[in-house]
Amino acid sequence: MNVMIVGSGGREHTLGWKIAQSPHLTNLYFAPGNGGTWEAGENINVKGTDFAGLREIVLDKKIDMVVVGPEEPLVMGIDDYFWEDPDLSHVAVIGPGREGARLEGSKEYANRFMEKYKIPTAGYKSFSEGQYDEALDYIAGMQPPYVIKADGLAAGKGVVICNNMGEAKETLQNFFGGIFGEAGKKVVVEEYLDGRELSAFVLTDGENYKMFPLARDYKKAGENDTGPNTGGIGCLSPVPYADESFTMEIEEQIIRPTLAGLKKEGVPFKGFLYFGLMKVGNKPYILEYNVRMGDPEAQVVIPRMNSDLLEGFVALSENRLHEYKLEIDDTSVAAAVILASKGYPGDYEKGKEISISVPLEDIVLFHAGTAYENGRLVTSGGRVMAVTSTAKTYKQALASIYDQIHKVDFDGKYFRSDIGYDI
Ligand code: AMP
Ligand code: GLY
Repeated sequence: MNVMIVGSGGREHTLGWKIAQSPHLTNLYFAPGNGGTWEAGENINVKGTDFAGLREIVLDKKIDMVVVGPEEPLVMGIDDYFWEDPDLSHVAVIGPGREGARLEGSKEYANRFMEKYKIPTAGYKSFSEGQYDEALDYIAGMQPPYVIKADGLAAGKGVVICNNMGEAKETLQNFFGGIFGEAGKKVVVEEYLDGRELSAFVLTDGENYKMFPLARDYKKAGENDTGPNTGGIGCLSPVPYADESFTMEIEEQIIRPTLAGLKKEGVPFKGFLYFGLMKVGNKPYILEYNVRMGDPEAQVVIPRMNSDLLEGFVALSENRLHEYKLEIDDTSVAAAVILASKGYPGDYEKGKEISISVPLEDIVLFHAGTAYENGRLVTSGGRVMAVTSTAKTYKQALASIYDQIHKVDFDGKYFRSDIGYDI
């Protein structure tokens, strides 16, 4: 079959790398892909939010399945767009429709959903533009730190942890003032949960689900988890502080009630659902839903799969996910360290030439912000590449990564040298 992956990050390269290994695949396309994805398929220069452009490729290349990597096209309704077009309705889209995507597209919607279905989460209240004083009054009655979130999508930058009232005021002014446009004109103020973060993922067809391995994403740009939040700059799977009984707790307290809630609401959901979690004491709390696989979580979770991912997607699209055998190599662990452009998550320069010295031993490079310009591989984003390794122990995987990370070089390269420090 012919498959198109929508997106251009490390997650999409990883999904493509895995799908390219499937005997069921004929041709693989990326829209738009990056400097690494051409190794797995063909890049076509159309953005994931350009639905009409994607339509043309799908018809031209006789695509049977569209795998949607990032949230933006999902929240914009790519799934509904395909479903409603008689020329496209036969195409399997992996990812939820507009309604299901609200779990990620609106923090307020997600929080209300969690409350309604009694899914353990932080206490919260939402405020609209014009309710600045009410929001401040509410915050004044809380203990610091204060968690303030933009309601809509803000490219992973819409959550600010404020240590005092001054920071809270500034954040509210920024959000209501429009730094994230409409996405921040409504805010959610949340109780701070103090614990250890981890993420869980399921692939679901709305009836059944398959649980993927847990992952631990390092979000802060600086060593020892300091500095600004990024989209994720290092990752491990599995999670050492999540044992079997805690994992079962996640399924019982969070995953099953969420899927039951979606069913009760009559919201169809076919795709990955990602649960951003906090382990507080020995209890799981949910911080957020994402309606897609994580990035860089995909880079450590997918390489640990023994089974054919494309087979899973086919089963999902045919409503027989229960027949799919998801096999994970439980004897392996995986780690990823992101090479980023100096300045990320703030402003950074692009177009820096990337050199890679081969051979690479026991590591795989998943590209993100890379592109080919006049035959040269150059940087084109903040997160440039994930250096990943799968091994028997974290120590081994991290040694392979850090021993060879110098083999990839570009001007202004930075990375965290302490991924895995806490395990
Ligand atoms: P989110 O996009 O909701 O996952 O938030 C981004 C990051 O902010 C999370 O990965 C956490 O590190 C942090 N965060 C979000 N909500 C809370 C909370 N209620 N308590 C503590 N930290 C939080
Ligand atoms: N790594 C966090 C995310 O994918 O949202």
